[in-house]
Amino acid sequence: MYSEKVMKHFRNPSNMGELDEPDVEVQVGNPTCGDMMTVYMDIEKKGDDKYVEDVKFETFGCGAAIATSSVATELVKGETIEEAEELEFEDIADKLGGLPKIKMHCSNLASVAVHEALYQYRKEEGMEISQKLEKQHKSALESKKAVEERREGQGKVFEG
Ligand code: FES
Repeated sequence: MYSEKVMKHFRNPSNMGELDEPDVEVQVGNPTCGDMMTVYMDIEKKGDDKYVEDVKFETFGCGAAIATSSVATELVKGETIEEAEELEFEDIADKLGGLPKIKMHCSNLASVAVHEALYQYRKEEGMEISQKLEKQHKSALESKKAVEERREGQGKVFEG
């Protein structure tokens, strides 16, 4: 079902773990399945630009979610924050040689996490925030809320 590249990133993901004292840390959720991803980023200023100096992730989800998180971090590491903001879930899926149709939503989790991290960074630094990033942030908040409600609901079921 998964391509060889997906399996490679799933078995041996890049950039998995936490950063000590990251410049920004965000958690996002996938409302389709309830999986969660946390992204840690260090941003460094070089000349006039700000770069994603380092990025790590922790993902609680399926194999595709782990593989897409791994590729997303590879794609944005070393990029300017403007370049990183352009990351789309299709870029992630392409880099993995495609994903099964029913798993495309998994690559969305990683792109949402990257956008949300950059939104939070811009907000904390008092930087300008584009309408696109603002919209992505609102959608990330709604998704996270839906996941939390879903988890609370499940908790109630388990509590009997
Ligand atoms: S099934 Fe949840 S991210 Fe893949």
